[in-house]
Amino acid sequence: MASVTLSSSLTTNGNTWLSPSRDFAFGFHQLGNSNLFLLAIWFDRIPARTVVWHANGNNPLPRGSKVELTSSNLVLMDPEGLIIWQANPATPVISAAMLDTGNFVLKGNDSSTYIWESFKNPTLSCQPKLILDLGSKLFSRLAETNYSKGRFELNFSNGSLELNPIAWPSEFQYDHYYSSYTYNANPYESGYQLVCNESANVYIVKLNGENAQFPDWDRINYTGDNYYRATLGF
Ligand SMILES: *[C@@H]1O[C@H](CO)[C@@H](O)[C@H](O)[C@H]1NC(C)=O
Ligand SMILES: *[C@@H]1O[C@H](CO)[C@@H](O)[C@H](O)[C@H]1NC(C)=O
Ligand SMILES: *[C@@H]1O[C@H](CO)[C@@H](O)[C@H](O)[C@H]1NC(C)=O
Ligand SMILES: *[C@@H]1O[C@H](CO)[C@@H](O)[C@H](O)[C@H]1NC(C)=O
Ligand SMILES: *[C@@H]1O[C@H](CO)[C@@H](O)[C@H](O)[C@H]1NC(C)=O
Ligand SMILES: *[C@@H]1O[C@H](CO)[C@@H](O)[C@H](O)[C@H]1NC(C)=O
Repeated sequence: MASVTLSSSLTTNGNTWLSPSRDFAFGFHQLGNSNLFLLAIWFDRIPARTVVWHANGNNPLPRGSKVELTSSNLVLMDPEGLIIWQANPATPVISAAMLDTGNFVLKGNDSSTYIWESFKNPTLSCQPKLILDLGSKLFSRLAETNYSKGRFELNFSNGSLELNPIAWPSEFQYDHYYSSYTYNANPYESGYQLVCNESANVYIVKLNGENAQFPDWDRINYTGDNYYRATLGF
């Protein structure tokens, strides 16, 4: 599928918007044997779908829910038409697309930039070509088939990648149990992007262009015939 046109919609009946390679799908992912669904992006080549992004982990929806692309938004609705989630791009929508990278994007008038992208609103995974900017967070899920916010958080807010335990259900943030210690009071010497590169390496880029490599994270012998992703185990 090249482009998702305005007024297109998907329901929980199993239709998807596929990337041209057919590697990634955007649509409703059923949670186990429940009658509950997540609006999600998943790797579509294997029967055990690997979900890499979702819109409503804390609020899975019943059969009959719907997502629709309008000229102003991408909107997720429950069967009664109540809006549960929306992308809220700043400018009008012309089309959308599921890209081969696994990035779902909304395009506006200016085709050279995206007005919304799942890669800029990550929830679960860091994957090739996904760059976490300062202020990004990733969350673990609560259990294998429960995508509610879980007990761990990746916080890239301060130039350092920090992993925090989160109390459940109070969401109290405990002190980090891991830090990359790449924060520096001098912004040029401080981390500003967390990169998951195409050869399965993960590193932090500083504003001065230097890379801070995590020990051992560049050791995977990438052969180019599969995808890697970084995620927080529940
Ligand atoms: C798209 O851009 C053109 C030229 O800049 C402008 O005339 C038109 O109003 C724009 N349309 C929308 C929907 O923003
Ligand atoms: C996930 O777990 C929470 C806490 O036990 C529960 O309230 C919620 O209903 C669960 N969600 C699903 C989809 O099972
Ligand atoms: C994330 O990092 C920022 C900056 O260090 C800090 O203010 C915030 O409390 C952190 N959040 C969590 C959940 O640890
Ligand atoms: C950022 O981290 C450094 C070092 O861990 C700490 O001294 C500083 O207070 C933090 N700043 C914020 C805004 O959290
Ligand atoms: C990813 O990072 C590794 C280690 O720095 C480097 O050897 C490799 O060329 C990078 N891959 C890409 C596609 O940039
Ligand atoms: C990657 O390849 C090198 C050289 O063949 C080998 O020494 C190393 O153990 C391999 N690493 C992994 C994680 O398999």
